[in-house]
Amino acid sequence: MTQVLKSKPLVEELYIKLEIRIKKLLEVNIVPKLAAILVGDDPASNIYVNSKAKVFKKLGCESETFKLSAESNENEILELIKKLNNDPEIHGILVQLPLPIGINSRRVLHSVSKYKDVDGFHPYNLGCLLEGYPSLIPCTPNGVIELLKFYKIPVNGRHAVIVGRSNIVGKPLFALLAQKFEIGNATVTLCHTGTKDLAYYTRQADILIAAVGVPKVINKAMIKNGVDIIDVGINRISNNSPKGYELVGDVDYDSVLGFAKSITPVPGGVGPMTITMLAYNTVCVAEKEYHKMELSI
Ligand code: GUN
Repeated sequence: MTQVLKSKPLVEELYIKLEIRIKKLLEVNIVPKLAAILVGDDPASNIYVNSKAKVFKKLGCESETFKLSAESNENEILELIKKLNNDPEIHGILVQLPLPIGINSRRVLHSVSKYKDVDGFHPYNLGCLLEGYPSLIPCTPNGVIELLKFYKIPVNGRHAVIVGRSNIVGKPLFALLAQKFEIGNATVTLCHTGTKDLAYYTRQADILIAAVGVPKVINKAMIKNGVDIIDVGINRISNNSPKGYELVGDVDYDSVLGFAKSITPVPGGVGPMTITMLAYNTVCVAEKEYHKMELSI
């Protein structure tokens, strides 16, 4: 039997804890607030940003979306970020990725204040993570760690194989799992497009993390019996349903059921963890504001 690692019970538990912290902040008139910047009209990005806004509202926080046209130039985005960096009411700034072609994403992400970088993409925050003293941790990788913790999946001393070296998931997750942390201390292999014979590595995984964005690319022939699988992929495949599409992961879910020890479903696995950890990071920044206030009294 394969255990299905749904995120719902964990998300509910984390929301209860966050709500207590948010209530304390609201009592001193600090409303944790996220500024989300959306450039262009990519439908998937629109959905993500709207879901973020809904969750923040539900938790009693604020979220404002700044929509810029796909034709905006880099300076307009940088100007907006500068304004938000200096706005004391804004605790977190998120630039929805991908940005339109022609915009230098690196320059944009580097311009976000490292203190408000709730995505954890600023080189300062990524550097702190590599150093082993993380500050703001990228949301999806941190969500994966929380899931492993919640479901008590052993990590220490096991072989974790990550497929995908993105800055958003693969690389930060490599840093987290390899550190001597409570949930960490694994031997980590990072596979990518340059990896020859991917299956050779994935078959050795005790924990397999798929984060490539290719539908069902990992199947039963590529895993060993008893592996714990974390599927980070959220891929849309067109079909004849009323929506016109279905969401599938990077793992061929049906093929590994009964063979893997556990697996996160898509949807309902890692996806909801990203927004939860975004709210978590935003509340952490707002609390720092509160502590600064306390010190100045
Ligand atoms: N695009 C896909 N995932 C993410 C994410 O975690 N943060 C941002 N800002 N953009 C994304």
